[in-house]
Amino acid sequence: MEEAAVHRKSGVRERTDEEIAEAVEALLADMSLEEKVGQMCQCQASNFSFGHAVESDPPEKLIAEGRAGSVLGAFDITRVFELQRIAVEQSPHGIPLLFHADVIHGSQTIFPIPLAWSSSWDMEAIQEACAIAAKEASASGTIFNHGPMIDITRDARWGRVSEGAGEDPFLGALIATAQVAGYQGASLHNEETLVACLKHFIAYGAAEAGRDYNSVDISEGTLRNVYLPPFKAALEAGAGSVMNAFNIYQGVPVAANMFILKELLRKELGFDGILISDYGSVDEIRIHGHAKDTKEAALKAVHATMDIEMVTRAFDHLPALVKEGKVSERQIDDAVRRILYVKYKTGIMDDPYRYIRPEKEIEYHFNEAHLQASLELARKSAVLLKNNGVLPLAKDTGKIALIGPFADSKDLLGPWQFSRYGHETVTLYEGLLEKGIPAERLLYAQGSGVNKAIDGGIEAAIMQAREADIVVLALGESSDMSGEAASRMDVIIPEAQQRLAEAVIAEGKPTVLVLTNGRPLVLDWYDRHVDAILETWFLGSQAGHAIADVLTGDYNPSGKLTMSFPARIGQVPVYYNSFNTGRPVTDTNGKDKFISKYLDGPNDPLYPFGYGLSYTTFDISDITLDRREMTADDTITVTVNVTNTGGVSGEETVQMYIQDCCGSIVRPVKELKGFRKVWLEPGESREVTFTIKVEQLTFWSPASGYAAEPGTFKVYIGSSSRDLSDGLEFELLDELNHNGEELN
Ligand code: GLC
Repeated sequence: MEEAAVHRKSGVRERTDEEIAEAVEALLADMSLEEKVGQMCQCQASNFSFGHAVESDPPEKLIAEGRAGSVLGAFDITRVFELQRIAVEQSPHGIPLLFHADVIHGSQTIFPIPLAWSSSWDMEAIQEACAIAAKEASASGTIFNHGPMIDITRDARWGRVSEGAGEDPFLGALIATAQVAGYQGASLHNEETLVACLKHFIAYGAAEAGRDYNSVDISEGTLRNVYLPPFKAALEAGAGSVMNAFNIYQGVPVAANMFILKELLRKELGFDGILISDYGSVDEIRIHGHAKDTKEAALKAVHATMDIEMVTRAFDHLPALVKEGKVSERQIDDAVRRILYVKYKTGIMDDPYRYIRPEKEIEYHFNEAHLQASLELARKSAVLLKNNGVLPLAKDTGKIALIGPFADSKDLLGPWQFSRYGHETVTLYEGLLEKGIPAERLLYAQGSGVNKAIDGGIEAAIMQAREADIVVLALGESSDMSGEAASRMDVIIPEAQQRLAEAVIAEGKPTVLVLTNGRPLVLDWYDRHVDAILETWFLGSQAGHAIADVLTGDYNPSGKLTMSFPARIGQVPVYYNSFNTGRPVTDTNGKDKFISKYLDGPNDPLYPFGYGLSYTTFDISDITLDRREMTADDTITVTVNVTNTGGVSGEETVQMYIQDCCGSIVRPVKELKGFRKVWLEPGESREVTFTIKVEQLTFWSPASGYAAEPGTFKVYIGSSSRDLSDGLEFELLDELNHNGEELN
């Protein structure tokens, strides 16, 4: 790879946007129609596929002939150099390639899965993780990320909840913004940054029954008030690209949807970056039943302003469509302008090999500082769901029986990772040993497989449990049980592990459940049968150390759920920011018949959004509002006192929810509108404040568009969406529309 260094240019100056525009026009004017279309086609670096197999010429041929402008999945620096060299030296204008990859929660150093890191509610830590991922990935030549995934998700059956930030639009928007800042840094010209790609636009997480790629049927109000906020915020943060979702919206596949892509994304949100199709989704317009053939599908995608088609060659029809007058060359030019702009902006037009830096791979990949950052974020991502006092493990805890398929497993990285260092993932057993627990006191038994029993596994586990003073059950899902194309009908701990748990728990020892999983699970049986439950998701390269830090109390857990854990699968989708209905369950009518409830179980999730315990306790009190009326020009200050009433220092995430009590469309019973993370010593108190502005009261309705409507609101403060103060009322006295005009 020294050869790449020879080709790299030093001191390449960043071009201004004016200079880029001029260069793009000059190049565009000299390109043939076929060459322009070539820039709109993405090929795969190898036959490693992210979806169904694709019939196409090999990448070397496509690139040399100018029939590909970007490459998906070139994870190897040598392959990147090889393909870039073909583009530069053999293609008609020598236009360099963009190299795309899915960098979802780390490149070589793996961080907690996004659903885990979202539980940290720590934007700086998430941003740092993405910046580190960008440094590691770009060192190998990756320029363009297929991330962040910022789909709101309310259905635990959907495997891709693991890739997102849970059910809340406000928190999802903050986390999306942090990720864009982390990946893109201050300038895309910096070769240590990646072009962020917001996916999947839009409402992919609303797939019916949680079945991946399934139909979506939601109102425009739900689209705009629930699924759009993270995209809106991330676009305002300057994201360079967007990827369409596989689903339909109001009957039209998003890849062909003029309202979603051209009206909403391009015109209303002002997005002028690269719009890339998700894998095969252009041709799938035909399979959905919205185009008679691939050619018509390509036509519809280009009319919806799709710029790059991901790897299935549907855009090979474009030259003919232009010649038939069905697509204008201006539409092609507009797409190629957006692509060439990014190629100039990232500097590869002036220095094609600038990202290919083997020396930086050696310096950055899986280095100590990155591993430390991963460990720190992993600690913050664990969520303590139950604890009757058995945790933290006392230093003089006798023998610990560590039992289960995840007790000494390296499958702690989760879906969507391609690290070469998976074999160095720290297991829970290793993490506990490194805490100084002597091996003779750490009794191990795998007990069962993830989905299958092991001959004699339960018997061996029982033997260990009998010897032990406390049992740590390490159970959950393997990495391939969540992520893409991994929906589950029963979101439970698999049967073989349930059998193991029942047998071990029958031994009557104090039992801690440590969970490794990519989605909320139904844990009601465990909640009734174990003494403590620690949710650790997939915590990444340093998982074993992070879990051991929490179990031993070296780190006091501070994570808060960003997705509700259902009490029963029949509740799903279950989420906190729901509507009241006309017949809500109240504190007094639970025995009535004609109310919105189940005959065979509760309405409430087992563990709600915003919930997470600590090894200490906190008291939230003295909540005051500095005013009870506000106009659109005013703000209200909410003041709260937080006290650590327990025996160890710890962090509480104080949450503020607001309810719009009456609107032109019904509004959720509460919505997260602010939070404060507060670290307190035992006995320490701190006053924290929140500010309420009219923008936080704004929502979209068919009648008024985006507006804040006058009327009564309630403020709730607490430690989760369930553990809240009584509502404190205030009045908004006038109406403000999205242009900031007062309407009355
Ligand atoms: C997959 C995913 C998308 C990913 C793409 C390329 O089908 O839906 O999230 O970025 O293909 O890997």
